[in-house]
Amino acid sequence: MKITKISLLFLALSLSALSGIAQTVRHLGDGNNIVTVDGKEPLLMLPIQEDAPEARVIIVKDFNPVQTLYVRLAQSRTDYMMPLDLYKAYGIKNQREAKTQNYSIKILGVQTDAICWKNLHTASTYDNKNHEKYRPEYHFTPAYGWMNDPNGMFYKDGTWHLFYQYNPYGSMWGNMHWGHASSTDLIHWNQHSIAVEPDAWGAAFSGSCAIDHDNTAGFGKDAVIGFYTSAGERQTQSLIYSTDGGENFHKYEGNPVITSDQPDFRDPNFFWHEPTQRWIMLLAVGQELQFFSSKDLKDWKKESSFGHINEFDAPTLAAGYGNHSGVWECPDMFELKFKNEKTKKEESKWVLICNINPGGPNGGSATQYFIGQFDGHKFICEDEPEETKWMDYGKDHYATVSFSGAPNDRHSVIAWMSNWQYANNVPTMQYRSGNSIVRDPFLYQANGETYLGSRPATEYDEKGLDQVVKIKGSSTITLSNDEGEEFVIIYDQKEMTLTIDRSKSGETAFSPDFAVPIVAPVHKKLTSLRFFIDRCSVELFGNNGEVVMTNLAFPKSTFNKIEVSKN
Ligand code: FRU
Repeated sequence: MKITKISLLFLALSLSALSGIAQTVRHLGDGNNIVTVDGKEPLLMLPIQEDAPEARVIIVKDFNPVQTLYVRLAQSRTDYMMPLDLYKAYGIKNQREAKTQNYSIKILGVQTDAICWKNLHTASTYDNKNHEKYRPEYHFTPAYGWMNDPNGMFYKDGTWHLFYQYNPYGSMWGNMHWGHASSTDLIHWNQHSIAVEPDAWGAAFSGSCAIDHDNTAGFGKDAVIGFYTSAGERQTQSLIYSTDGGENFHKYEGNPVITSDQPDFRDPNFFWHEPTQRWIMLLAVGQELQFFSSKDLKDWKKESSFGHINEFDAPTLAAGYGNHSGVWECPDMFELKFKNEKTKKEESKWVLICNINPGGPNGGSATQYFIGQFDGHKFICEDEPEETKWMDYGKDHYATVSFSGAPNDRHSVIAWMSNWQYANNVPTMQYRSGNSIVRDPFLYQANGETYLGSRPATEYDEKGLDQVVKIKGSSTITLSNDEGEEFVIIYDQKEMTLTIDRSKSGETAFSPDFAVPIVAPVHKKLTSLRFFIDRCSVELFGNNGEVVMTNLAFPKSTFNKIEVSKN
């Protein structure tokens, strides 16, 4: 039966009071509701209350559920509005087509007296201009909604592509999509439309992209290939491809391509291994990394695993490496050349990156790495198993992975600038979370060991974004603003540590884990500190990247003074 507007009016228990909006809500009791909207305007504006539970918003097409969104619909207070693109959800091309029908949405888990029923309305545009005082000036943030891990980054024809874990229906984690942005200078980012949406196999969790130069998968020469974790009842790996440079992705019909009986089985990171002429993929599986190989990106064979402590792995070389206080996530791997200080010869080593949450050196999430060799089958770590090396000792540096195909053999990385301890509670609303600046990892030696440093990408040189201070022995470096808020860094040359105190840096009360001391070991005497200070972050590069600390801070105004005093 086709429901006409007149019969809807008849049935309606409430009709939106907002002018010109044909939208009816029928409350069926016990939190069950049916919303019917006409197609005059493309957006349904959803009122969000961040501490409300997630309601189920079910898109219904021809009386069948086609998509479920989890939305914190406002119960007693509206924090902000988020747009739901009806035309996109219903596959409508234009307003003429849209006008011919009504759209039904089933909403479960919201009682009749919830405030959202008053504020729900349709709109033709969404104002996504910046309304937030903490929004960074030059760090990437989504226009609105939630962001976590950077995903699938690649460089092609002069453009850096960034994808990211994205919730377009609220500024807290949920409904994982891949958002997409691109940049030619790593400072200004263009927002693109969503690249990957959740489907019946699950939400679109983290993954990676690479260019298939030799058409090994058969999607075309230079097709952009991506892998992400379909996180449903189980975690499996799905293949996507783009034949227009990453603008539009198609899901491979044979998905999922890699499955496992392990509950945590995610974050595929893959690259072409020239010596063995195969693709290698890393997956984070509980507390180990697994290596797979493939000739055609569709059939994958398990090669080896690294890092786990259990009976099964105990006899292997790879037993029990690194930190195991949390779940291993978002792996990456690349080979870096460096000049051996002793032999003065150029050598190369492989760096295995493994993000972990919790277990970071200063609490919560962080990026550990291992140095060693990789022969296309197995990673052999040169570090002692009990030693854990961290890429960045700040509290807000996570899910670090590299761009595929960066120019001049670079393995440029970007990190999500937050920590799972408080990521959902930082004091922003219209959007939540930004990324670090892009950095170029390098190897350096100190005390007979090899460490991974990361220096700001050269794209930031001479752009006036950074400040450098010289360091001569133990010192206190204070960043401050006109309001007297302070971000304090103490360099102790005797202990060889850098300690950060952000307890007076502005808003801190949103989490007890925020204002704790943050400590980093320093492997080589500090001679300089390079700062990248933005609206709500301080990235600090000791000796231009030998020791790195990335931290958020929420001051009333951007820190605009740096004072150095000798201790
Ligand atoms: C890391 C992570 C990944 C996962 C994604 C989900 O922050 O937990 O392991 O793929 O976030 O959003």
